[in-house]
Amino acid sequence: MKVLVTGGAGFIGSHVVDKLIQENCEVVILDNLSTGLQENIHKAATFIQMDIRSNQLLELFAGEKFDYVIHLAAQTMVHKSLEMPDYDCDVNISGTVNILEACRKTNVKRIVFSSTAAVYGNVESLPVMEASSTAPTSFYGLSKLTCENYLALYNQLYGLEYVALRYANVYGERQGDGGEGGVISIFTRKIHQDEPVVIFGDGSQTRDFIYVGDIASANYQSLATIHGNHVYNISTQTETSVNMLIEYMGKVAGKVVTKVYGPLRDGDIYKSTLSNAAARQNLSWSPCMPLIDGLARTYNSLI
Ligand SMILES: NC(=O)c1ccc[n+]([C@@H]2O[C@H](COP(=O)([O-])OP(=O)(O)OC[C@H]3O[C@@H](n4cnc5c(N)ncnc54)[C@H](O)[C@@H]3O)[C@@H](O)[C@H]2O)c1
Repeated sequence: MKVLVTGGAGFIGSHVVDKLIQENCEVVILDNLSTGLQENIHKAATFIQMDIRSNQLLELFAGEKFDYVIHLAAQTMVHKSLEMPDYDCDVNISGTVNILEACRKTNVKRIVFSSTAAVYGNVESLPVMEASSTAPTSFYGLSKLTCENYLALYNQLYGLEYVALRYANVYGERQGDGGEGGVISIFTRKIHQDEPVVIFGDGSQTRDFIYVGDIASANYQSLATIHGNHVYNISTQTETSVNMLIEYMGKVAGKVVTKVYGPLRDGDIYKSTLSNAAARQNLSWSPCMPLIDGLARTYNSLI
């Protein structure tokens, strides 16, 4: 099967491409290299340098006839969405609509969309279920939620099949500093250079950290699985505080870490862990990588 991966030169996208190639798929990567890197591009994939908002997108889809699209390309930074909501909207919403139109017009079988836990905002009860209320606290969360609504309407109006995967905080090899789970790559560099790590808040805020290889397998499982739902949390269903994370990272690095506490950031969620029961049941998927092992891999790859 022929799969287009948008954002395939990025952190998560490059791991998705690895998985697809391992499973003998024909892979085309579309990326504008705004945050993605040439060195992340798999040699067995075809690379097209293009923006998802390009007016040449339809022509590309018509020529290539993709079976499936895995859409990861996005503006991924919460703080940037607050500083430049128009840019976030343009890339994440208009870019996704451009992809959806091309899918519809060229009969793509299914689109798998990278969404986020940021669609939920601050929630009262954990773990967060897919049916929990959505109240994003950033324009990034709002743009991703809006895309999910576009996917639902494209499905209703045109029958375009879709799966939206709401990732928890992703970490792993090739991670940059900017995205949602970027805290681990930032801490890795600081700890390696024996510099203090800066914590926004008192460090008791929690996240659900999931290894990027587990995200790649969730994307692969979403391509062909027969399922009842469209929207899945992809998580470990485990809460880890930032203080605990730093303790683990110190262990991995074999160092005592100096912590500096600063003010909380606007738009950040205080506590987060997502239920993964639906994905386990319907996508025949489960996370495999223990946090300490994933942190060791990440630390050793980034230093
Ligand atoms: N990293 C996380 O913890 C996390 C959590 C939840 C959701 N996500 C989502 O997963 C996806 C991948 O994120 P990532 O962390 O790998 O980020 P990333 O920045 O490494 O990857 C994004 C890729 O998209 C490309 N891109 C950006 N804008 C583009 C455009 N207009 N046209 C074409 N290509 C464009 C970039 O060059 C990059 O290669 C994003 O949709 C993000 O919102 C990430």
